[in-house]
Amino acid sequence: MNDMFLRAARGERTAYPPIWLMRQAGRTDPEYNRLRETAEMPLEALFASPELAARISLLPRRLGVDAIIIFQDILTPLTPMGAPFVFRPGPTLPEPIRTAAQVDALRLFEMETGLSHVRETFGIIHETLDGALPVLGFAGAPFTLLVFLVEGKSFGDRADAAFAFLREAPALAHALIEKLTAMTIDYLRFQAGCGAHALQLFESAAFLCSSDVYQEFAIPYQQRIFAALRGAAPTIFFAREWNALEDLDAAGADIISLPSSISIAQARERLGGQRVFQGNLDNALLARGAWPDIEAAARACVESGEHRGHIFNLSHGLLRETPFAHIERLVRFVHECRA
Ligand code: CP3
Repeated sequence: MNDMFLRAARGERTAYPPIWLMRQAGRTDPEYNRLRETAEMPLEALFASPELAARISLLPRRLGVDAIIIFQDILTPLTPMGAPFVFRPGPTLPEPIRTAAQVDALRLFEMETGLSHVRETFGIIHETLDGALPVLGFAGAPFTLLVFLVEGKSFGDRADAAFAFLREAPALAHALIEKLTAMTIDYLRFQAGCGAHALQLFESAAFLCSSDVYQEFAIPYQQRIFAALRGAAPTIFFAREWNALEDLDAAGADIISLPSSISIAQARERLGGQRVFQGNLDNALLARGAWPDIEAAARACVESGEHRGHIFNLSHGLLRETPFAHIERLVRFVHECRA
């Protein structure tokens, strides 16, 4: 068993910082793109196929990463709730959720029946790995899911319909987020029961928020989720481009995924030397930078993490245009950074 990830997650010293990359199972990988072409099925069908989803989850193994993340989407559990997103090619919900009747109609469902394909996918991954690598589960945070549900599509750098909904129907928004919170707790506990070694929560819509909206609609629900997961598995919290470290800490996860604006050393100085962090190489630098600059930034990140309680990752997910050679080289480089 490569237990570097789990040891770092517990705050222990590791010979090198374990590394995995958000969106490692995706379009930066030529094997993934080939598989998508030959499979000729929409993305939601790939997610629903345990054999294919397991095979894609495992593709990054050949990079040498220290953890596998299951190939699903944050939108996966919305389908059994009654909001079936399809990917054409971006995520699309034919009828966005805007009314009280639609919120009421969203169902809390039985995980074992509604998401049996997720259990099967974990099963195949575990069978194949036979314990060789830890496997991460994940979910979208409730506020982020609300933004997708109300917009009915992916957001770029604005989400006007979602923010109008929060302003005009705050009580209904809270009711929707309550429901999503209950579902997300069930879903993450279910993944722990499927053998997920750690659980990451993605607040990917954070960067769209004012501080007031974030305090009211995001933090309290993140807190409920992490409190409910205590003891189930180590937890990681990620909030896209949210630079207020105290807010990241307030969520209550075991591990904080840092944006590139805060170094690991700075975060330790402010939150305590024993805390565990994930991150935080600039994902745009990895995509568009020259290798010597990437290497210098990666080295600085490793040094800042001091080879203890540090899980190497990016500031956010791999960008589609990231050269695969940079990814291969980054994993090798980080593994060569021996204490
Ligand atoms: O990280 C991994 O490799 C595991 C799989 C994974 C996917 N989505 C598969 C996927 C994970 C962890 C996600 C999370 C996810 N999905 C997030 C949170 C992470 C983040 O980046 O902030 C969000 C916001 C989504 C919603 C989503 N899914 C969008 C907006 C899109 C289309 C745009 C895009 O980035 O591709 C997707 C599609 C999606 N989900 C792909 C993959 C590999 C692209 C698939 C393809 O086009 O072949």
